[in-house]
Amino acid sequence: MVGPRPIGAGGFLAWVGSHGLRWRLRRDGGFCRSSIRQSGVRAGKDAIHVVSDASTTAFEARHDLPSDRLLEQGRRLVGFDRRFERLSGHMRLLSDLDGVSTWAKRNHGGAPDLVAALGDRYPLLVFHGDVGTGKTATAEAAADGLARMLDTEGFLLKLSTRVRGIGHVGEMSTLIGDAFSEATKLAGRARFVAMIVDEGDALAFNRAAERAHHEDRVGVNALIQRIDEARQLRGRLLIILCTNRFAALDPAVLRRAALREEFQRPDDHERHVLFEQVLAGVEVGKGVVDELVNITGPRDERPGFTFSDIQTRVVPEAVARAYPERALTAEDLLVAAAELEPTPEIREHEE
Ligand SMILES: Nc1ncnc2c1ncn2[C@@H]1O[C@H](COP(=O)(O)OP(=O)(O)O)[C@@H](O)[C@H]1O
Ligand SMILES: [Mg+2]
Repeated sequence: MVGPRPIGAGGFLAWVGSHGLRWRLRRDGGFCRSSIRQSGVRAGKDAIHVVSDASTTAFEARHDLPSDRLLEQGRRLVGFDRRFERLSGHMRLLSDLDGVSTWAKRNHGGAPDLVAALGDRYPLLVFHGDVGTGKTATAEAAADGLARMLDTEGFLLKLSTRVRGIGHVGEMSTLIGDAFSEATKLAGRARFVAMIVDEGDALAFNRAAERAHHEDRVGVNALIQRIDEARQLRGRLLIILCTNRFAALDPAVLRRAALREEFQRPDDHERHVLFEQVLAGVEVGKGVVDELVNITGPRDERPGFTFSDIQTRVVPEAVARAYPERALTAEDLLVAAAELEPTPEIREHEE
């Protein structure tokens, strides 16, 4: 055990944990985690940046694209290849408007109206679905996949819900403005920037909702305006908004989405693939994976387990029963699956 070891950064409390991870106490009281090797200045192809003074950036993380880590993340996501194959054509149309122009010249004598129509779209994708179904992980891996497809370098920015601010007059608008200015600067003339707005319903909630405060409504207006302006970057800024609460999104934001992609809990086949993948190299015996798929499926009123339930709860719970004394057994897995309950479904209600 390495134990917490202070390393000091930008006036923030920071220490190195046992896995070489660096934890930092953010100004807002939360923790953020980054690998030490990768924090700070750009460190090659696969860097993750956590800007040293959290108050200077609206982003909780910045990754260089392409990123080997994100490529690997995509490989581990069950069903990612098929989904990306479906999405990438559209994503490419949104982010490669110069390429579209060249294509139109070559094939259709320019077709200015067609090119203009494509350029009029908003570079916004909405990923929605239950919690733990892979929206964030997919958005990250897809940003990497797209950078590779476009054969360009760029950045992945994750917008922190911190931009909601703490309720000061005009704060959310200012913070959103800062975030988009930073993204625009990074996109520069030639680079590609994917901005993930995670838990997007916190920023793009329906302004008509009764409990929406005036200040917050102004913030949503600002977000919409920035999405409109993002078109000027001709695809170099692509925004992916992820939400567990689709029904809570503002209709004006939704209307701008060039693409809406729904995520669902894994079906039997997907849970099968996931268990086989996670348990690769572990001898659990014949039929056990089928049984696990069964136990973790939907029944009666209860939904099936999410990807994340299986990865981050069932499997660790089973390992915890065996570790460190003995090897993992089929029983550990079956008992863990039977004892745990899936994350409850988010009940969407129109506001
Ligand atoms: N398709 C998938 N295949 C394998 N694991 C997945 C998949 N989707 C999600 N997970 C697991 O669940 C975790 C949470 O996924 P995440 O993308 O944060 O979900 P969401 O954003 O929809 O709440 C991931 O880190 C991963 O371990
Ligand atoms: Mg998420």
